[in-house]
Amino acid sequence: MIDYPERLNLAQTPTPFYLLERLSEQLGGPRIWIKRDDLTGAATSGNKIRKLEFLLADALASGCDTVITSGGVQSNHCRAVAILGAQLGLKVHLLLRSDIEPEPVGNLLLDHLAGATISHYSVDEFRKLGKLFEEWQAHYAELGGKAYAIPTGGSNGTGMWGYIAAAEELLQDFERHAITPQAIVHATGSGGTQAGLMLGCYLHQINTCIKAYAVCDDSAYFARKVRQDLEQWQSQYSPQTDISGLIADTCDAYVGPAYGVADEEIFDTIKQVAATEGILLDPVYTAKAFFGMMEDIKQGKFSGQDSGDIVFLHTGGLFGLFAQQHRLGY
Ligand SMILES: Cc1ncc(COP(=O)(O)O)c(C=O)c1O
Repeated sequence: MIDYPERLNLAQTPTPFYLLERLSEQLGGPRIWIKRDDLTGAATSGNKIRKLEFLLADALASGCDTVITSGGVQSNHCRAVAILGAQLGLKVHLLLRSDIEPEPVGNLLLDHLAGATISHYSVDEFRKLGKLFEEWQAHYAELGGKAYAIPTGGSNGTGMWGYIAAAEELLQDFERHAITPQAIVHATGSGGTQAGLMLGCYLHQINTCIKAYAVCDDSAYFARKVRQDLEQWQSQYSPQTDISGLIADTCDAYVGPAYGVADEEIFDTIKQVAATEGILLDPVYTAKAFFGMMEDIKQGKFSGQDSGDIVFLHTGGLFGLFAQQHRLGY
């Protein structure tokens, strides 16, 4: 029995879980199941909501009236914080990274609509992100308020609880369908979903591999970042839990040109999955991971061709598609 910290009820869960029949058949490999965490909400869609149930509960419990967080200019995480802040009556301040004057489209449009305060920084200025957080927290303290800092992607020991809880939900999905998947596949960006799932599967004794596809950085970075989050969780919540056997399995072969920049094949994947299964992927995260998974199936990297099961965790990101709609060629 896991002793969860306090959480808010923000995500629409359990999210749907089902078999992608047509795509599985087309690829001729293991059966591909999908966990629809893009359906955790409408404006609050995606993986971040599960993390924010715990992070925002912590913010409220510590008496904060403001939340500061950071990300790329089209960050799904920042959009989720902006919307949930408005829902909970918390002020939200977003520190967004961009080297060009950003157009108010996609997630950024929703950040504005939700009334978030937005500060734009160049990639260079963003290198001092820790200092920026400190300065803004001091600013709100001077005004008599209290600001809670959520790191990029909501990835830290507290945010990880979201995917520890999601692993419990997945266990029920697996039991309902009487499957024991060889892998759970997903996109990784700031490492928190990956770390949470790895720990969640370990704590719930789910015998599967967590296969993360990087959308930035490399596998060595994720090995370090996941370890850091796991260690933070351990020291904060459960020093007696042995996490030494938890090793990140990250594939960095499909990052493409850069974070947020995708080649043609990623847009083709978006079209293929939308037309075949009615599922919308995004060019920054989920389509890169889905493409990587399909390539690895074709190359026989998942065992049990024509048998066995793998699960694709759909982590959301739809609004990011609208920021790159010109790449779809219609
Ligand atoms: C749509 C989407 N998928 C996947 C991820 C990656 O999750 P994490 O940051 O926990 O690695 C993100 C986070 O930025 C995201 O917005």
